[in-house]
Amino acid sequence: MSGAFEDVDYVWCDGGIVPWEDATVHVMSHVVHYGSSVFEGIRAYRTPSRVSFFRIQDHLRRLRVSARIHGMELPYSSVDLEAACGAVLAANGFEEAYVRPVVFRGLGAAGLDPDFSPVRVFVVAWPWGAYLGDEAGEQGVDCCISTWSRPAPNTLPMMAKAGGNYLSGSLMKVEARRRGADEAIALSPAGHLSEGSGQNLFLVIDGVILTPEVDGTFLLGITRDSVLRLARDLGYEVREGLLPREMLLAADEVFLAGTASEVVPVRSVDGVPVGDGDPGPVTCHIRDAFRALVTGEAPDPYGWLTPVSVPAPAGV
Ligand SMILES: Cc1ncc(COP(=O)(O)O)c(C=O)c1O
Repeated sequence: MSGAFEDVDYVWCDGGIVPWEDATVHVMSHVVHYGSSVFEGIRAYRTPSRVSFFRIQDHLRRLRVSARIHGMELPYSSVDLEAACGAVLAANGFEEAYVRPVVFRGLGAAGLDPDFSPVRVFVVAWPWGAYLGDEAGEQGVDCCISTWSRPAPNTLPMMAKAGGNYLSGSLMKVEARRRGADEAIALSPAGHLSEGSGQNLFLVIDGVILTPEVDGTFLLGITRDSVLRLARDLGYEVREGLLPREMLLAADEVFLAGTASEVVPVRSVDGVPVGDGDPGPVTCHIRDAFRALVTGEAPDPYGWLTPVSVPAPAGV
């Protein structure tokens, strides 16, 4: 076992806490062959007074929508799942952590039809620093435009955070590494800007914040929504629209936002510096405001932080 998972001792599995070693699936599970999972990534932050989840109920709502899109009935309420997330943190003794509820089709009938394979639910948590590296938030990252486009609407539902969709992101991510970039930005099938392999995309032009409009080619990020609301409340003009790729060259600033990455400046795209190549003032303003809110240094007028409540030891 490597890196991030070394400290994980317990996993929540189908209703209770089990040792890490027992959190396994059979090789003939439907999900292994056909990617039939939906999942979430939620962060727990240590604030000065307590440990809090960031927008956990919004994440769990999206999990439910993802499950509905793929015809899976979630056997637990969002209240139960929030308790499960708390139970996993408590069992492992984690405070700041990334929490991953995953719902998938287990071992059942052979063949594609998922409805004859049981729905299983696991929640795993692990300490996970900044996804794009410790320096990324301060110094920015180098991106490439992927040669892989995101899937077209009505091919794979990209609004679902589904395991199978991440084959697209994996191709992008590998390509980025091989081309010496930190992250890849994909276009939609129509050639408009879409998203990063695990983040939504923002541009800043003349002080206005721009992000791709909902076009069925990217995940509707909860951090994206948080950035849009924070930015408006900080007095920025914010626009969602169809953005041609060349707008990356017109942009004064570019940044990525997602739960794992948080808010990260993009300093170059395909080797061309964004603006003067340093993180710009609007990006830094949004990054710092986001950081201050999630860590409890600034007030949370939105009610986005909820204290982690630790359920009884037996779990839910
Ligand atoms: C493909 C993709 N786009 C965008 C995001 C950002 O979503 P969120 O802010 O809800 O984490 C993620 C991260 O989960 C992602 O995997």
